[in-house]
Amino acid sequence: MSDRILIIDFGSQVTQLIARRVRESGVYSEVHPFHTVDEALLENFAPKGIILSGGPASATWTEAPRPIEKVYQLGIPVLGICYGQQIMMQQLGGRVDTSDHQEFGRAYVDVQEDCALFHGVWDVGAKEQVWMSHGDRVGKIADGFRVVATSEGAPCAAVADDSRHFYAVQFHPEVVHTPHGTQLLENFTHRVCGCSGDWTMAAFKEQEIAKVREQVGDGKVICGLSGGVDSSVVAVLLHEAIGDQLTCVFVDTGFMRMGEAEEVVSLFKDHYNIPLIHKDASEMFFEALGDETDPEKKRKIIGGLFIDVFQEEADKINDARFLAQGTLYPDVIESVSFTGGPSVTIKSHHNVGGLPERMNLKLVEPLRELFKDEVRALGRELGLPASFVGRHPFPGPGLAIRIPGQALTREKCDILRKADAIYLEEIRNAGLYDAIWQAFAVLLPVQTVGVMGDARTYEFVCALRAVNSTDGMTADYYHYDHEFLSRVSNRIINEVRGINRVVYDCTSKPPGTIEWE
Ligand code: XMP
Repeated sequence: MSDRILIIDFGSQVTQLIARRVRESGVYSEVHPFHTVDEALLENFAPKGIILSGGPASATWTEAPRPIEKVYQLGIPVLGICYGQQIMMQQLGGRVDTSDHQEFGRAYVDVQEDCALFHGVWDVGAKEQVWMSHGDRVGKIADGFRVVATSEGAPCAAVADDSRHFYAVQFHPEVVHTPHGTQLLENFTHRVCGCSGDWTMAAFKEQEIAKVREQVGDGKVICGLSGGVDSSVVAVLLHEAIGDQLTCVFVDTGFMRMGEAEEVVSLFKDHYNIPLIHKDASEMFFEALGDETDPEKKRKIIGGLFIDVFQEEADKINDARFLAQGTLYPDVIESVSFTGGPSVTIKSHHNVGGLPERMNLKLVEPLRELFKDEVRALGRELGLPASFVGRHPFPGPGLAIRIPGQALTREKCDILRKADAIYLEEIRNAGLYDAIWQAFAVLLPVQTVGVMGDARTYEFVCALRAVNSTDGMTADYYHYDHEFLSRVSNRIINEVRGINRVVYDCTSKPPGTIEWE
């Protein structure tokens, strides 16, 4: 088994980034909320090192969240970050003060002494940029520690106890605004903890294939394909693991992009030879949606019908016992919430939730330990075409949520599909596809007057959207040059009957969302 690092979460917004940085250095890591880390977990997980995350609590509270004392008694290295530093100092005999000098954002530390964390990166006497976000700070360090870096707002910006291999920093090495943060974390995992850095996608793939074989035995597995990266990677991985025990089901809702259904069927059926049921259910979807224009009702109708159709098709596979899903690690991490209560639902994103219980199936989720970019790396490792692996995200309800405020008809879907295909083709031709996180066209429920040749036209408006984002939670609209926009606009108006005006959406998220509804 590869070396493992345990990250104990105290609710920081950026805890997941610690896991990503550690994994990028070839070391497997997992995030666990502090209240779930007990002696049994420590023993089973057998980490080579532990990282205590930041968090919104104050170490000065009597009820402050703290890791169990055992964490410090295992004889393995521990690194505290921000709140993690403060609670570590507090538990080991130091003191945390509430300070009126808060530090948020970019700050500079003075490197005072040599430290294993700084090896090959920071020299004594240097001033280095870091990212801080704290009100409290360590006022007195615990016995055995020495201060190795200071900053204006944090006199104990970095502390070290070399004999116990305990280190703690007030700043956040996991964010990009600490330019050398990745190397500092790598020094911890490799130099201090002695991890070998042998966790690669090739190793992960073999490990998952073995796990799937063990879980599934000679049982049959159903996998829903959407054309997206996650379900495609799951299907190919499972096929490598269990061959024909896998059957894929692809439900065509009628709201796919141009050529998408054919592409999915040809890749999986013809290229990979995976048993595939292709159900064209578009008629049923158009009928079920009728004149509905409310975005949430549309999502519910599509989500519900999708499950019904999927189940009907899956029932045709005799004695299937498992359902494979592309659940990712961010969905699995139960981040600690100190605010309590569920967050407001802005949009209900549809997935195949509820199916496993209804069909009495067990879940196979081979991606549940991976982040999105790691899924792409696994896809490449499995030999999926680069064009598939690098695809922009596409919502489950597809084009149905890109024709806002009007009844959905085949005709409108066709108009939008053509405009969208031209837009994406031009993006590819301009070499911009990989520089944009997500791009698509929207068909607006507005007709405008135009003039083509010498005739008056009265047709629909098409809006173009392109954003950059890391996780879809926030996004910036993409800045095209005007030449590009003119080219796309001209082509759409000339080639797509039904559209006579094109506009570009320059709204970021927030306040907009990425999709229009
Ligand atoms: P929003 O519009 O919420 O989109 O800013 C964020 C990301 O989620 C995708 N999205 C969906 N995905 N079902 C999905 O599977 C949905 O109902 C849905 N709505 C939005 C959107 O394309 C973007 O990538």
